[in-house]
Amino acid sequence: MGKSIGIIGAGITGLAAAFILSPKHEITIVARDMPGDFGTGWASPWAGAVFHPQSAATLSQQGMQKACFEFYWALAHRDPSSGVKVYPMTEYFDDRLDDSTIWYKGWMPEYRVIPSSHLPTGVKFGVNYTSLAMNPLILLPWLKETLVERGVKFIRSEVKSIAEAKAITKASIIVHASGVSAKELAEDRDVKPVRGQTMFVKTDFSRLVMREGSEYTYVIPRAASGGVIMGGVKSDRLDAEVDVDLKVDILTRVNRITNGAFMNVDLNLVEDIVGFRPGRDGGPRVEREGAVVHAYGMGGAGYIYSFGAAQKVRELIDGPEWKAML
Ligand SMILES: Cc1cc2nc3c(=O)[nH]c(=O)nc-3n(C[C@H](O)[C@H](O)[C@H](O)COP(=O)(O)OP(=O)(O)OC[C@H]3O[C@@H](n4cnc5c(N)ncnc54)[C@H](O)[C@@H]3O)c2cc1C
Ligand SMILES: *[C@@H]1O[C@H](CO)[C@@H](O)[C@H](O)[C@H]1NC(C)=O
Repeated sequence: MGKSIGIIGAGITGLAAAFILSPKHEITIVARDMPGDFGTGWASPWAGAVFHPQSAATLSQQGMQKACFEFYWALAHRDPSSGVKVYPMTEYFDDRLDDSTIWYKGWMPEYRVIPSSHLPTGVKFGVNYTSLAMNPLILLPWLKETLVERGVKFIRSEVKSIAEAKAITKASIIVHASGVSAKELAEDRDVKPVRGQTMFVKTDFSRLVMREGSEYTYVIPRAASGGVIMGGVKSDRLDAEVDVDLKVDILTRVNRITNGAFMNVDLNLVEDIVGFRPGRDGGPRVEREGAVVHAYGMGGAGYIYSFGAAQKVRELIDGPEWKAML
């Protein structure tokens, strides 16, 4: 028998939970921001969004990332109109000399170590593999449309408490996926916004490149957009102003890891993006507390966890046997 389930939040976490739960259960989503909205109070429309396995992850977090990758991989092949696409990835590090600390070595498709003579200056180790990127501006509306077709209800409302969401959705179980609002709704002091600034640049460059360690730099092609997202930076600044010096810095760093592929970009013509990630000290919280299943604290990896977190949410509601029953 299906249960009546309310979900707080229509970001990637709430939508993914609705997607995994809706074949069986009756779902109502209550959210302040919905796909198609562009406020800075939520994170999902502002993401890159690259599937870049998170290196500092517990075994359970690794499991969610793997399940999520498999979901997106299948979706990219089944339905390209979802905005999910497969790309070659190059990942550079300057904080390690080998992959002894990389849990996804040999797990990501076509994983290969790059010979050190082929690494850019300053980079100490690098790998290639095949990964994915999601265009949130396509994927979020695609998910909403799919869910509406399945009978999922969407109610626009800003709730003051989880109890209020329960009353509005008339549900017996609440999935709590409010992103940065979990600071109030779950009274979780570890939750805090983490500012990000990126830019959308028109180009036919079509591979993923990242650098980690002493800096955090990336180029992410965006399906069906004619361009890439480049970044990045993490900061605890709370204003949404575009930092112009940072644009110059990002472009310089990106040119260093792409052998100067973006030398001719005019920074006055790019589209600036500022957004806030729903950060949490200690990482994501996907946990049941009575009739509430929390799914928040995704930080800079909400897309990387989304469908894996959703499968864990379903397990917390239906028990571990649900997958075997499919
Ligand atoms: C610049 C930038 C780049 C990023 N790049 C990547 C990337 O490459 N890969 C990746 O995986 N992630 C990336 N992220 C992170 C990603 O965007 C987030 O982790 C993800 O969007 C979080 O999704 P969420 O659904 O948990 O939260 P959100 O998207 O913030 O959604 C929260 C939802 O809850 C609703 N809500 C909040 N409070 C209330 C309330 N009181 N009442 C009702 N509804 C409420 C909101 O309206 C919204 O619908 C990036 C983020 C930024 C800013
Ligand atoms: C890694 O990827 C880059 C960019 O596609 C390519 O030029 C290079 O030959 C690849 N190296 C290896 C070892 O796969």
